[in-house]
Amino acid sequence: MAEILATFIHISDTHFEPAIRLDQQAAYGSARIAAFFKELSEKGIDLGAAHRASVPAEVANQALIDAVNELPFPIDFVLHTGDVMTDAADADQYDAIKATMDGFGVPVYYLRGNHDNREGLRRLMPSVETATDTLDYVIEHNGVRIVCVDSAANGVDHGGRLSDEQLEWLRTQLAADSEKPLLAAIHHPPLLLGSDMMDFFGVTNGADVHDVYKTAVPRLQAVFFGHIHQVVDMMRDGVYYSCVQSPISQPVLIPGGLSADGLHHEPNPGFTLVVVTSEQTYFRRVNYPMPMPEAV
Ligand SMILES: [Fe+2]
Repeated sequence: MAEILATFIHISDTHFEPAIRLDQQAAYGSARIAAFFKELSEKGIDLGAAHRASVPAEVANQALIDAVNELPFPIDFVLHTGDVMTDAADADQYDAIKATMDGFGVPVYYLRGNHDNREGLRRLMPSVETATDTLDYVIEHNGVRIVCVDSAANGVDHGGRLSDEQLEWLRTQLAADSEKPLLAAIHHPPLLLGSDMMDFFGVTNGADVHDVYKTAVPRLQAVFFGHIHQVVDMMRDGVYYSCVQSPISQPVLIPGGLSADGLHHEPNPGFTLVVVTSEQTYFRRVNYPMPMPEAV
């Protein structure tokens, strides 16, 4: 019988609101993104509305934590694929969410999303050794390796990019300890998703990133990602990419274009339960009700 090596939860895009927020225009304001948002508004699409939770982020995220804690068995850790907070002004802002995230009762490993402050995430996982300029690191748990790479450090306009050095680091880490079960995580989806909006905010050198993940097939069990707030699984060249919902909002972006019909909100929060065994990896999607405003 297969031995269970790790049981963990994949979550993403909690988007806690900091008490002091960066001016997003200053942080991301390029002509490219300004033109994109103008195009959206001309088509009658309010991206803000699509991404706004019907309840405060703290309430929506607590519902996630409660749902995970209702599982009738213990988990080893939580893997968070980024956008932990939305544009915190500084690392201090992350101190405010520590008590909430401690509610999981197990270690939480964070990827860096485009809205995240690198130092803030380091404060949330002080025992994790990361690269200096990027939040690149490897989780080692009971013989399982999860290679986590920071796609936000070199990205622009909400998008992602890995530097040449990061691509080389990723290739090296995926090849290391070749007898151990291997998984990977990144905030941005490396592959194109067939939607103007999703692809605008993707990884600008995603083909290069995918080529690196390909080198780890067939040992690589999955690449977990976030950023797009919805359940999307993709398989290409033997690489399995798995995204999970955001607890705060789950816009549905229909592949094929960007239109008023192509974006709607469908309350459907959830998380992915992952069980890594000595023989294979199980993925189970778990849903729970979105908290309603009147219950707040
Ligand atoms: Fe993101």
